[in-house]
Amino acid sequence: MDKRILVVDDDYTALRVISYALKQEGYEVLTAAHGQAALRMAPEVDLVILDIMMPDIDGYRICRRLRTNPDTRQLPVIMLSAKAQVSDKLMGFEVGADDYVIKPVDPSELVARVGALLSRAKHAAPRDAVVIAFIGVKGGVGTTTVTVNQAVALGQQGATVVIVDWRSSFGMVCSQLGLAPQRTLADLLVADPESGENRDPAAYLTPFREGIAVLAGPPGFGLPGPVPRELAGTIVRHLRSMADYVLVDLPPEPSPMVREMLEESNSIVLVSELDPLSLRSGTAMASSLGSWGLQWKILGVVFVNRAWSESTISAGDAASKLGIDVLATLPPAAEMCYYATMSGKPVLLSQPDSLISTSLSELATQLRQKVI
Ligand SMILES: Nc1ncnc2c1ncn2[C@@H]1O[C@H](COP(=O)(O)OP(=O)(O)OP(=O)(O)O)[C@@H](O)[C@H]1O
Ligand SMILES: [Mg+2]
Repeated sequence: MDKRILVVDDDYTALRVISYALKQEGYEVLTAAHGQAALRMAPEVDLVILDIMMPDIDGYRICRRLRTNPDTRQLPVIMLSAKAQVSDKLMGFEVGADDYVIKPVDPSELVARVGALLSRAKHAAPRDAVVIAFIGVKGGVGTTTVTVNQAVALGQQGATVVIVDWRSSFGMVCSQLGLAPQRTLADLLVADPESGENRDPAAYLTPFREGIAVLAGPPGFGLPGPVPRELAGTIVRHLRSMADYVLVDLPPEPSPMVREMLEESNSIVLVSELDPLSLRSGTAMASSLGSWGLQWKILGVVFVNRAWSESTISAGDAASKLGIDVLATLPPAAEMCYYATMSGKPVLLSQPDSLISTSLSELATQLRQKVI
């Protein structure tokens, strides 16, 4: 059988009883008594049985992290807890558990559930892309610059990437990449499958360089027609099978189109400047994301320090005001960014040795490791 099961529980007796039952069935069993160890060991196993109440990181947060890490996104998780309220269970499923079992459980039932879940996992879809949404707390803070450079950095680190310029007007991603797209999101959105027009987003991508392609934003002001509600889901499902990462450049507006895409994403990265106004919008945006039930997807904030000024706030203070982790603080680089846009070569390619490029590469490394 040779399947490896990780049992995570700070209760030694429970660990022993469950491990014994699983070993009797021929499983290889690994155990962890706290969350940190669980996160370290999870990429090496075929299934996790996860207690919720633990001293360091609780089971919900562990599950959430497993779901947003590309290495463990498909890993079957059974939550096992004495927390027996319906709301506890719902929370378990919300953070991505496949099954929820209330303690105490007969070990034979648990073993049966493990078997059922493993056989289902065998037939599951192949691993697919991680979708990261980048959204500015307001317009003009550098969101597109961050997004395209993250695509380049992830590409340089060996990943394949699709960038989606998901907006209703004036797509800017292609101009930062020096591309003149033949087809854009606007064409895709009005494609009518009834009359034989192709709705596969693959046919609407513009290649940038090896491993990176763009679904260009609409060139003009406004879309040619209303966007069908389920379209974000359909597009993302197609794109997920085409790359390791789908990076979505989102405009800072609470439209149904933007909200749909946030819901389809695995993680959300906020982009902000370090001035009081940006922080005010950032706070409002974080609270809206919270009221949409998306707070848990926020990976952190990238501060773009476009220009030093008297009103510049420290990244640490700004992050604690927002209540969000800082992923990176990009230094001012107005000339380099201007040249990059004019030449259609993102700073990571045109100025690879600059301070801003180093920060951008480090950000990509973090995204790959975390995607928390
Ligand atoms: N670190 C930086 N230092 C100085 N200028 C920057 C920096 N990053 C980006 N810029 C510049 O800021 C301007 C806005 O950048 P960008 O278009 O990426 O922002 P945006 O948030 O996507 O804007 P929009 O809301 O219009 O989509 C551009 O002129 C860009 O070159
Ligand atoms: Mg933009």
